[in-house]
Amino acid sequence: MSDNRSTTRLRTQIAGIPVAQLSAAHPTPFYVYDQAKIVERIEDLKAFDVVRYAQKACSNIAVLDICRRHGALVDAVSAGEILRAEAAGFVADGDPPPIVYTADIFDQQALELVLDRNLHVNCGSTDMLEQLGKKDPGRSVTLRINPGFGHGHSQKTNTGGSQSKHGIWHTELEKSLQVAEQYDLKVVGLHMHIGSGTDLEHLSQVVTAMEQSAQVVGDQLGTISAGGGLPIPYQAEEEYVDLAAYFDLWDAARHRLEKQFGRKIHLEIEPGRYLVAEAGFLVAEIRAIKRMGDNWFYLVDAGFNDLARPILYGSYHPMTICHRNGAPSAAMREVVVGGPLCESGDIFTQEEGGFVCTRPLPEAELGDWLIIECAGAYGAVMGSNYNSKPLAAELLIRDGQVHTIRARQTFEQMTGAERIPD
Ligand code: LLP
Repeated sequence: MSDNRSTTRLRTQIAGIPVAQLSAAHPTPFYVYDQAKIVERIEDLKAFDVVRYAQKACSNIAVLDICRRHGALVDAVSAGEILRAEAAGFVADGDPPPIVYTADIFDQQALELVLDRNLHVNCGSTDMLEQLGKKDPGRSVTLRINPGFGHGHSQKTNTGGSQSKHGIWHTELEKSLQVAEQYDLKVVGLHMHIGSGTDLEHLSQVVTAMEQSAQVVGDQLGTISAGGGLPIPYQAEEEYVDLAAYFDLWDAARHRLEKQFGRKIHLEIEPGRYLVAEAGFLVAEIRAIKRMGDNWFYLVDAGFNDLARPILYGSYHPMTICHRNGAPSAAMREVVVGGPLCESGDIFTQEEGGFVCTRPLPEAELGDWLIIECAGAYGAVMGSNYNSKPLAAELLIRDGQVHTIRARQTFEQMTGAERIPD
């Protein structure tokens, strides 16, 4: 697994392209993705029968297209994500199903699309089973089980246990099977996703929980999904998860079930962050440098409208500086990095709870670029128009060429659906 974290906190290029060249053609802020890194990460997981990309992490159709071309299938959590998968060339039919709709509810549009396209559904509630079964009995479905425990990098990304709204509670599985039977729905798979940005210790516990739930379903089971949740190292001292060890745990469980049920069991993994986080960079320009009491601030032109993870979860992202002019200074300075928004929480260097902290970064001048790294997952997709800021452009670097995969939103696109009543 190659690691591209910078120890000097200086960077001049992204995937071989000078930052100055990117910025000359595209006004900051913008996202840049390195296709090679996405492909490398898909390859890392090829031991699993199916790598199902949780597109919520970065759902630009060009990114979905890369995943499809490199053999990944896709997960969709909304009607919009189903349409994106289709726009990127995924088809509804196939075994294993290329697109799976995973959710805890159906909204009207999603249910209509699922029925119209005959999409496979991973149900996170018994109500979904009833709503689907009433409209289209006789289908095969997967159940998302909440094993009674969970873990994430933040309490907000923990999707297991009794405080989580996700999945069918593990002790309710038998009841759900009865509901399924009532509507002639065949439960052919089980899925567990306990949280995002979790760790190997917690992920490993899911294997046992899955085997227990599999006993309840019995030999009609054909697929087990380990869910997503694989972390990536955002901090210099963090390490990669031992993927081989993780796969071995699941593979052993799968073999035990195969032996017991006398049939092939497919093993899926459903990563979002792992595939795209490290491929993405948010490039901003330093527009003001000021001192507030004891603190120095670098104020840049990207805010939490572009990258919400720090204000939402206190998330740490590596940052580097690219000097616009001349030789880079080696001197470091402890700084707070903030954005342009009219809200004091618009700070990229903060801890959970909103506590502002400083970061050692190279001394910089106005016009230098600040690059926020490991921003490919839950970056652009969580962008907003707060303060009437346009959604940032997204660029893709493929084989040394720069492609605009989303143009920066225009004022007309931002306000086009608004009307002043007569
Ligand atoms: N499968 C299901 C059912 C999920 O709910 C999720 C993430 C994934 C897979 C992918 O998880 P991953 O491999 O990316 O950890 N906005 C948060 C993360 C929210 C994750 C939501 N569900 C963040 O920025 O950290």
